[in-house]
Amino acid sequence: MSLSAEDLHWAPGGVPILRGVTLRLPGRGVLGLVGPNGSGKSSLLRLMAGLRRGTGGAVLLDGQPMARMRRRDVARRLALVEQDAATASALSVREVVALGRPPRRGAWAPWSAADEAAVAAALARAGMQGRGDQPWATLSGGECQRVQIARALAQEPRELLLDEPTNHLDIRHQLELLRLLPHLGARVVVALHDLNQAAAFCDEIAVMQDGRLVAQGRPAQVLDAGLIRDVFGVEARIERSGAGLRIAFF
Ligand SMILES: Nc1ncnc2c1ncn2[C@@H]1O[C@H](COP(=O)(O)OP(=O)(O)O)[C@@H](O)[C@H]1O
Ligand SMILES: [Mg+2]
Repeated sequence: MSLSAEDLHWAPGGVPILRGVTLRLPGRGVLGLVGPNGSGKSSLLRLMAGLRRGTGGAVLLDGQPMARMRRRDVARRLALVEQDAATASALSVREVVALGRPPRRGAWAPWSAADEAAVAAALARAGMQGRGDQPWATLSGGECQRVQIARALAQEPRELLLDEPTNHLDIRHQLELLRLLPHLGARVVVALHDLNQAAAFCDEIAVMQDGRLVAQGRPAQVLDAGLIRDVFGVEARIERSGAGLRIAFF
C-alpha cells in the first residue's frame, strides 16, 4: 500500500474537474499520467500531493486518509514538482534544494550535517552533484528541472509526483530527465505529453479523459489505436516489437 486516490472528486465552485478517479500506484517503478490538455492531470497530482482537498472520495497514504494527516507528515512522505516550478532567483542551487528540508527538520533545529548530506545526496541523484554553488538564475531549462527534482528529493519522499517535467526541454534533455526517473529512489508518478515517451519510460500508464481515469496498466496493454482515437482524437498505428511499442500518428 502506498499512495492512492479512491473515487476522488473535485468540483471547485461546483464545476466538476475530477469525476471519481481511483488511481493506485504500482508496487514499484514509474507511473505515467497521460491525457489531453484539461483532462485533469495537474489537478489530480495537486490533490494527491495534499495541496487541494477533494470534494468527494479520498486520497489515502498507506490506507490513511491524507485529509486527516498533518501537512508536515504528508511532506515527509511525498513531494510534488509542479509544472513550470519557479523559485526566487537570487538563490544558489544548494539554497534552492535546501528549501525541501523543512519537513524533515525540527522547528528550531540548526542546519545539521544530516541536512547537508541530504541536500548533497539529492543533488547527486538528480545528476547535479558539484553544482551547489552555482546561482539558480544561471541554470539552463534542463538544469532547473533537475534542481527542482533535487529540492523535492531533499524531502526524502517515498513518492515523487512530477507534473510535465520535460516541458520546454529539447529532446536530449527530455531523454536525460526521463532516464533519471527510475533511479531517483522514490516511486514516481509523472504527467507526460508524449505517448511514445510514456510507453518507453513508464512501467505503467494511467490515462485521463475529461476528469476520469479511463485506463491503467502496462503501456502495451493500455495503448491501442482505439483508445488513442477516443481520448486524444487522433489516428495512430501501434508498432509492437518485443516488449516495447512505438506509436506512429497520421
Ligand atoms: N482551481 C481551479 N478552479 C477551477 N477550475 C480549475 C482549477 N484548476 C484547474 N481547473 C480546470 O480544470 C481542468 C483540468 O485542468 P488541469 O488539471 O490543469 O488539466 P491538465 O493538467 O490535464 O491539462 C481545466 O479545465 C482547468 O481549467
Ligand atoms: Mg497540467
